[in-house]
Amino acid sequence: MCGIVGYLGGSSAAAQPVLFDLLKRLEYRGYDSAGIAVMNGSIQVLKTKGSVNNLMSETPILRGCCGIGHTRWATHGKPSSKNAHPHCCDTNKIAVVHNGIIENYIEIRDKLIDLGHKFRSETDTEVLPHLIEENYNNDLESSVRQALSMVRGSYALAAISSNDPDKIVVARKDSPLVLGLGETGFFIASDVSGILKYTKDVIFLNDRELAVISHNGIEITTLDGKKVDKKIETIKWNAESAEKSGYPHFMLKEIFEQPDVIRETFSGRMSAEGVDLEVVMPDARRIIITACGTSYHAGLFGRYVIERFARIPVNVEIASEFRYINPIVNSSDLVIGITQSGETADTLAAVREVNLEKSQKFGIVNVPGSSITRESQCLFTRAGPEIGVAATKSFTSQLAVLLLLAVQLGRARKEMSTADANDFVYDLKQMSGNIQRVLNEADNIKKCALVFADADQFLFMGRGANYPIALEGALKLKEISYIKAEGFPAGELKHGPLALIYDGVPVVAIATEGVTYEKMLGNIKEIKARGATVIGIANESDTKIEKYVDRVLRIPDSNPWISPVLSSVVLQLFAYYVADYKGCEIDKPRNLAKSVTVE
Ligand code: M6R
Repeated sequence: MCGIVGYLGGSSAAAQPVLFDLLKRLEYRGYDSAGIAVMNGSIQVLKTKGSVNNLMSETPILRGCCGIGHTRWATHGKPSSKNAHPHCCDTNKIAVVHNGIIENYIEIRDKLIDLGHKFRSETDTEVLPHLIEENYNNDLESSVRQALSMVRGSYALAAISSNDPDKIVVARKDSPLVLGLGETGFFIASDVSGILKYTKDVIFLNDRELAVISHNGIEITTLDGKKVDKKIETIKWNAESAEKSGYPHFMLKEIFEQPDVIRETFSGRMSAEGVDLEVVMPDARRIIITACGTSYHAGLFGRYVIERFARIPVNVEIASEFRYINPIVNSSDLVIGITQSGETADTLAAVREVNLEKSQKFGIVNVPGSSITRESQCLFTRAGPEIGVAATKSFTSQLAVLLLLAVQLGRARKEMSTADANDFVYDLKQMSGNIQRVLNEADNIKKCALVFADADQFLFMGRGANYPIALEGALKLKEISYIKAEGFPAGELKHGPLALIYDGVPVVAIATEGVTYEKMLGNIKEIKARGATVIGIANESDTKIEKYVDRVLRIPDSNPWISPVLSSVVLQLFAYYVADYKGCEIDKPRNLAKSVTVE
């Protein structure tokens, strides 16, 4: 949700091209409007509605080695040039970019208006430069500190002032911020994938910390002024993994990275005993998984495999609901937050809720240094940077971690024998190669997708561990192609959704080998009898399926607990090709942003 950036180079450096480049790399966080402010004696601001490309196309060259920038996902005020950041104070001597929400902005704005300040936008952010100006006492740092003591809400912000040139002051509370120390200067970004091209040496700011970046270096203090010594961390992701590398879209590249990602997810985590994860907590009497969107679907899958292998009851909760249901959590419960970004506000809040109950908790996360990693122990999915807004490789790597976790818990609780664990680990080791075999069928999947690409509605159905995959298949399709799509547990259709079936409506049925296979065939018959056109996802060796469905997409034969991962890859490609045919903005679907840092 909004990307903020900043750059301070040597005195002969040019900030503008670096800011544009940083913004392009963070555009998946929001693309409603974009802007930069560069310091060159005075502050020069350029901003526009729409994407960073729009901004770059109409921009004169600004001189100056220090600047800040913003790419917006609108919350307060519609997408427009007026509401684009950076926002300035009346004298234009202070400019601010901000990610988060200032909750008491109306009250502050009214007071500032009474004091004579003039507001130009409808945003909450605009109170910040005015408040800093109102509290200005000859140095930017203390004025920012003073201003922040008056605001409520969440922020990652960067401020510059022409009274205090070649200095950027940044601060964070409940929104992410990372500082990069590169050979060509200091970099500021909302997340590491923004600055990876320039440096892997970073400092993650914690909540309520403020940093002053100047030619003398970086000084970090708490918001109330106590000096903080921070570790410089080196990010292991390689810079190329945040580039498109010849693919037309990040989403397609990320789908094709999955064989390597899964190898990386498993690397060093399988031992002679079965599985060896860094965090486990086997004594839990109950597990509560909380997450949003795709990560929630991974959580639903986690329930099936953990209950099956470890016999621990699992509840799966949508994070935005969990907080407000007054959840009953005991000290014997283990709460697992699943989040690719590690920044999803609802998931963070749900996991924080648990602190109050003193139960055990950990996160399953992809992004190193993200907020959840600073608050909980974490298992990393190791998927590398995921830039496409639609989650793909992060999802399959979450499924892979959950499979590992289920085996390890199963072993620790003696619900799974060593022999069964070893057999399962053997099957897991085939996963990466089997995903590659699915990818080798991309042209077939594309042909099938193009047959149905003009449909205005899709249904997806599955049973057991394939049910969350049906939900995820529907989410993928709707978010990037804007076609109405819903996922259902196949047995539930006759309790209502069957009314949605009409002549020719496409239904994707995940009918892979497993205990519910025969039942699925029955469900397929029910919808065929009512006119649906069925696309079946089935195993290679399935000789029956052709008689039941109109088209078949095959996955390699594999363990029924692992085949949902393979089916997911088919559905990702299916959604991708439909959206591509329709000419949709695949990596940046309308109204969405990659990391949802507001509640
Ligand atoms: O970063 P997180 O995993 O916490 O994000 C959760 C959802 O916002 C995310 O999965 C979203 O649903 C994706 N756009 C789905 O493709």
